[in-house]
Amino acid sequence: MPTIQGPELKKLQGIHYTPKNLCDFIASKILENCNFIPSKKEIKIFDPAVGDGALLLSLIKALNLKGQKKIEASGFDTDTLAIEIAKDRIKEHFDCDVDLRTGDFLEYLSENYSIKDELFRTAQESNQYDLVISNPPYVRVQNLGTSRSQRIASDFDLKGRVDLYYPFICGIAQILKPGGIAGIIVSNRFMTTKSGASVRKRILNDFHVLHVLDLGDTKFFEAAVLPAILIVRKKQINEKPIESKFTKIYSTEDALNTKESKNIIEALKMSGCVRVNGGQSYYVSHGKLYRESGQDEGFWRMEQAISNGFLSTIQKHKYCDFGDIGKIRVGVKTTADEVFIRNDWHTLFRNDKPELLRPLITHHIANRFRAVESHKFSILYTHEVRNNLRGSVKIENYPNSHKYLKQHRERLEGRKYVIEAGRNWFEIWVPQDPNAWKKNKVIFRDISEKPTFWMDLEGNIVNGDCYWFTNDKNVNDDLLWLAMSVANSTFIEFYYDQMFHNKLYSNKRRFMSQYVEKFPIPTPETNVAKQMIALSKEIYHRLKENNMTSLQEKLDSLVWKSFGLRREEVFREGYL
Ligand SMILES: C[S@@+](CC[C@H](N)C(=O)[O-])C[C@H]1O[C@@H](n2cnc3c(N)ncnc32)[C@H](O)[C@@H]1O
Repeated sequence: MPTIQGPELKKLQGIHYTPKNLCDFIASKILENCNFIPSKKEIKIFDPAVGDGALLLSLIKALNLKGQKKIEASGFDTDTLAIEIAKDRIKEHFDCDVDLRTGDFLEYLSENYSIKDELFRTAQESNQYDLVISNPPYVRVQNLGTSRSQRIASDFDLKGRVDLYYPFICGIAQILKPGGIAGIIVSNRFMTTKSGASVRKRILNDFHVLHVLDLGDTKFFEAAVLPAILIVRKKQINEKPIESKFTKIYSTEDALNTKESKNIIEALKMSGCVRVNGGQSYYVSHGKLYRESGQDEGFWRMEQAISNGFLSTIQKHKYCDFGDIGKIRVGVKTTADEVFIRNDWHTLFRNDKPELLRPLITHHIANRFRAVESHKFSILYTHEVRNNLRGSVKIENYPNSHKYLKQHRERLEGRKYVIEAGRNWFEIWVPQDPNAWKKNKVIFRDISEKPTFWMDLEGNIVNGDCYWFTNDKNVNDDLLWLAMSVANSTFIEFYYDQMFHNKLYSNKRRFMSQYVEKFPIPTPETNVAKQMIALSKEIYHRLKENNMTSLQEKLDSLVWKSFGLRREEVFREGYL
């Protein structure tokens, strides 16, 4: 590969030449999707940013192998020397017409094609191409100066932050024949950024997207951009929409059922965990393109429920489910809250406070890891366990409580179902197990955007607006700490969304018992799990101090690790 310019200048101009095996792969993908090759006619191929001609060379070779004899190869590059090298290379290896010009592709479009002028556009059809192959420059258009960037945005009808490959994509739509195929290397950012909205819309308007290949962190290029390949077909009149394939490959630490491949290109044709050349492993998945909110501007990502790979990795690292530690229960339900539950007991009573008052945990004090300090409400709790039997207290033994309740006897006896069930008039309708309150327990909110789970070590009672579980089987309490770490993590948000798909208004999730009991707990004996237990205890005890965010971040990352996954991978894939 010739050194045409210094590395800094190259970077500034978005010049990262495509490795040969990737060029060959894109050429093969284009032809795989093309039903008019071989043709007796001359096939016109085009690269709007030729560089040293590597992509055109691969496409010409692939066309020849398919029996296509007559080819005209055209293209542009702003770099004169690169154009000369490209011409020489093509002529040296192949017998075809070559029309490579030094020039700015975008300027050429503005002068010769107009997206705003339909008549002019039709007149240009004889100048259109059957196949386009391209790795356009990636540069923020803003870096090209204000007047140039404004002109590009206006010429190509693009809004917001524009990267140079956006107008190249729009330009390719202009020069490609209807039914023609293009293979374009782009940055994967346009799929999931707000600034990519206008180009996403244009792609869907002008092309059928045949295949998106997100090359993730495979490091094909020196640049920091994560590349993707777009294989598209220019729309023809009256064509039905088609399903778009989506492939992605990202590095993974997981070594489960790893297959071997010689290089990334070979790995792309496989699926699951693939180790490349005895070194780094990658996770390769194949699915369909999914457009969020079904709109033209919606983010693009791979459509799939939690992939089998993820699930089996989680399964492999799982010790048990939340439901195996203890039954998920709702809090108490009095059916007369105005009598039993109050936040003004201290003003109602001085010396004759009801003996049965107990602090009550309600959703008002919900907070991750540890409830906010003050218990606003207390409950007059009229239940106990006597001789191993659950039942109501002997109310006469608690004169202050008895006195208070008697004042509300009529209201309480109005609960016919209590009396008809043969229960005392002063009972709470659903008191839960009075002995269980003593135990350490994990409490959570039913409806919230982010999971909110916290620990109670003080034997408090939980109100019916929250759910809770304790260590029913008297196993090690550390499992509760482990469960709380998992529950407050981005891992569980991801797991929830993939497994249960139950989002409510304004992005709120419902943490129903049937979901929460299926949340996984990692094997507690591992070093990672031990660190998680220690960290969640530390967060609980130090929560009142400022700056607990870094500890929480650290714990979050450990949760992913404990299930053999990496948070960054999932974030990158746009799940979160
Ligand atoms: C990412 S490199 C790709 C080169 C080559 N196609 C390859 O894949 O190896 C981008 C190329 O675009 C050229 N370029 C930058 N701006 C251009 C423009 N406005 N018109 C045409 N070519 C341009 C650069 O000189 C560079 O050769």
